[in-house]
Amino acid sequence: MLGAPPLLLAAASLGIALLAFLLLLRHWGWGMLLIFWYELVVQPVRNLVMGDTKEQRILRHVQQHAKPGDPQSVLEAIDTYCSQKEWAMNLGKNKGEIMDAVIREHSPSLVLELGAYCGYSAVRIARLLPPAGRLLTMEINPDYSAITQQMLDFAGVQDKVTVLLGASHDLIPQLKKKYDVDTLDMVFLDHWKDRYLPDTHLLEECGLLRKGTVLLADNVIVPGTPDFLAYVRGSSSFECTHYSSYLEYLKVVDGLEKAVYKGQGSTEQS
Ligand SMILES: C[S@@+](CC[C@H](N)C(=O)[O-])C[C@H]1O[C@@H](n2cnc3c(N)ncnc32)[C@H](O)[C@@H]1O
Repeated sequence: MLGAPPLLLAAASLGIALLAFLLLLRHWGWGMLLIFWYELVVQPVRNLVMGDTKEQRILRHVQQHAKPGDPQSVLEAIDTYCSQKEWAMNLGKNKGEIMDAVIREHSPSLVLELGAYCGYSAVRIARLLPPAGRLLTMEINPDYSAITQQMLDFAGVQDKVTVLLGASHDLIPQLKKKYDVDTLDMVFLDHWKDRYLPDTHLLEECGLLRKGTVLLADNVIVPGTPDFLAYVRGSSSFECTHYSSYLEYLKVVDGLEKAVYKGQGSTEQS
């Protein structure tokens, strides 16, 4: 009798943990649980043993296997490493090819990227810009922004790209005065998902969007950006297209959302 309450407590805790696990599994699938396992357990152990970070290992792999000045070989080296050795949060090949098609369709000259990480998508965008084209990429993490700069230097696209270290909500209001931006042709949103909506409002408030500015948002399904999606899809200021695909390096459905700005409170019919 005396042992019953602690036993009951242990059984209840186990039951709750199991239920939480099953709910997570139902919501995310095995792919996402694997990512959590690698990111929270395997990777910290590997970092400790090897005395470096995953991002440094990705850069080293590129330096050893890609051709300097050849952006395509850089992308292939990153994709090979991250699909075979260590998962990483790059846009990846499948969604990357969709982004390439959007860039080719709209031919932007001035692009803003929110979230650079190791520079994969920055290399991808920069290689498709016209000769006078420019990419500004914002990254909050100083270690990642340093890796991005080295990745861009190696790919030979450094003259087209400016890496801005800091938080998007601090940097966006500085774009006009400090970085000589009038309006943006395209914005690639790929930073933390809860920032997509407030930064979209901020871009609009700062007068950085013009009729035809293309917003392209990654991960709108996984991890998901429901508030952003509801806003752009429900707003008369945007015309939206969804591109279904897979989460980088996994068989988990994800997608990109393209939202073309039509002007404030536009009533224009498409
Ligand atoms: C998914 S990764 C970007 C991947 C990159 N676009 C690619 O495909 O290669 C997200 C990045 O956004 C950065 N980040 C998150 N919130 C940010 C913010 N508010 N401002 C700037 N960078 C941010 C993170 O540090 C992380 O490196």
